[in-house]
Amino acid sequence: MTAPALPLPAAPTGEVVIRTIAMPADTNNNGDIFGGWLVSQMDIGGAVLARSTALCRVTTVAIDAITFHRPVSVGDIVTCYAKVDRIGRTSMLIAVEAWVHRYTTETQQLVTSGHFTYVAIDPAGKPQPVKR
Ligand SMILES: CC(C)(COP(=O)(O)OP(=O)(O)OC[C@H]1O[C@@H](n2cnc3c(N)ncnc32)[C@H](O)[C@@H]1OP(=O)(O)O)[C@@H](O)C(=O)NCCC(=O)NCCS
Repeated sequence: MTAPALPLPAAPTGEVVIRTIAMPADTNNNGDIFGGWLVSQMDIGGAVLARSTALCRVTTVAIDAITFHRPVSVGDIVTCYAKVDRIGRTSMLIAVEAWVHRYTTETQQLVTSGHFTYVAIDPAGKPQPVKR
């Protein structure tokens, strides 16, 4: 038996890391925005926070627990929020949420959430400690 879904949050968690508008070129065959486009925006947004946390190059090592709660439509203003959940030796676990402002609504709605793990890397691309 699966657990009932938790109610979606009414307000975002974390800081704004990216804001953009969903474009027709990013649609899937249903006419909604393609999930891969949204995940790439969230990955970029999470990397903005990871870079400013580690103060060096970072790379994405894992993306977990992505949930698409609601569809995104062309013209929606998409805002990604990110929060550092855990700092390891070389890695950072960052929770990223994507929220939208639609043409028709005053308030934002959560559309997608997930956990992104970034690794701090040196100029040779090898892991280096976050807190140096
Ligand atoms: C990220 C990368 C530099 C890590 O190198 P590595 O030799 O595997 O390094 P390690 O095994 O020491 O792991 C480094 C950290 O990542 C964490 N990690 C590795 N794989 C992980 C995974 N699947 N999920 C979560 N964390 C992971 C480790 O726990 C470690 O964290 P810690 O130092 O805080 O304890 C290397 O795997 C890489 O270059 N991958 C490709 C990254 C990339 O191109 N990303 C863009 C996607 S196209």
